[in-house]
Amino acid sequence: MKLRPGAIDLCDPDVFVEHGGPPHEYLTLLRREAPVHWNPPPRTPKTQAPVRHGFHVLSRHEDVKYVSRTPKLFSSHSGAPFLWDIEEANDLASVQTQMIAMDPPSHVKYRRLVQSGFTPKMVGRIEPAIRSEAARIVTRVAGRGECEFVTDIACELPLRLICELTGVPAGDRPKVFDWSNRMIGADDPDLSNGQEDTRAAQTEMWLYCNELVAKKRAAPDDTLISKLVHAEVEGHKLSEMEINNFFVLLSVAGNETTRNMTSHFMRLMFEHPEQYELLKSDVDRFLPGAIEEALRFSPPVMNFRRTATQDVELRGTKIREGEKLYLSYPSANRDEEVFEDSMRFDITRAAHGHLSFGIGEHFCLGANLARMQLQAILREVLLRLPDMSLAGPIEIQRSNFIHGIKRMPVQFTKVLTRS
Ligand code: HEM
Repeated sequence: MKLRPGAIDLCDPDVFVEHGGPPHEYLTLLRREAPVHWNPPPRTPKTQAPVRHGFHVLSRHEDVKYVSRTPKLFSSHSGAPFLWDIEEANDLASVQTQMIAMDPPSHVKYRRLVQSGFTPKMVGRIEPAIRSEAARIVTRVAGRGECEFVTDIACELPLRLICELTGVPAGDRPKVFDWSNRMIGADDPDLSNGQEDTRAAQTEMWLYCNELVAKKRAAPDDTLISKLVHAEVEGHKLSEMEINNFFVLLSVAGNETTRNMTSHFMRLMFEHPEQYELLKSDVDRFLPGAIEEALRFSPPVMNFRRTATQDVELRGTKIREGEKLYLSYPSANRDEEVFEDSMRFDITRAAHGHLSFGIGEHFCLGANLARMQLQAILREVLLRLPDMSLAGPIEIQRSNFIHGIKRMPVQFTKVLTRS
């Protein structure tokens, strides 16, 4: 059957399982033939969080960039920045207390409260601790000759880091891991028991955060939750709901993304053995560029949404006030107008300009941190377990939002020690 615009429903999570990720042939067709394409709502919803209204799919780099940088016309607040429709007014109001769902001028005031914890200087300060943690993670599996890459290696560092930043004690880390999986995994029966489970996870996180808040109120420290407890925006203290939702946003955004990116990186190595060999020939030289290229090639977040604040036109297509726009990062990152030979994975290309961290107002707050963690753990894996290879099938998360890897069994025979 000939592929045509409309042949694939981008809210169907099974599409992403069937294609092992984003349907790139289809996205390429959209970039070429229908760069502003109307995806109608599904007749039979296959997701837990329903997509009731259709949306305009933006597949070109230039358009994703323009819309992300123009919050006046394309809001993150109205309806929130997620593809699904949040119909319950209370639920929407709650999500809208997260800075990711705010527009200027409020957005910048909330972002300012936490951004000092994410500057290159701050990230540099915790780098030595992250590096030694990465070494510990690899040492723990090194003698086994095989492991499950996602749970044994990829998930550890992001989890530890986000817990330390927010002030969650070590013993409670497994709880945060479980909550974050259930928050993001509603459409995958392996990760969650559906929408009710997602809600339950959220409530558990809120209750937990309340306890943290009480502790930080009594004994302030330099964790993010403590800063939020004592912060003020325009003369008023943050509400319980605002702090709780900050905690949820940071825990989920900090965990799922970096973990999946770590796994994607190694998957790309297994799929491109010549690039894997090249990287190993000089890890220090090639790793930073390889990380950028992997981010370009396999972004773990597949989309965010904006909502038109007034009637506008984009490439001749009328967008009505209130209609949704779907920013496709995997497509923008393969735009042949920006990246030469864009379907080729090449660790030596300078992959600057990819949109995996978004762009503009909401540019990922954790980008520096994510890059540093990726560098630390991948360097350790590549230098100490240099013949790591795939040892079984890779399992992809069933989701229309996160390109996630649930399981990736790996094996290795050589174990090198480093000073
Ligand atoms: C490879 C890893 C990561 C990827 C691919 C990623 C991706 C993204 C993207 C695409 C956005 C833009 C949202 C939008 O425009 O609506 C974003 C925002 C955000 N990210 Fe990340 N992220 C990553 C890691 C992290 C980490 C480690 C943290 C925190 C510790 C984090 C925290 C955030 C926050 C708080 C926002 C909202 C910023 C705002 O609204 O101003 N992210 N991320």
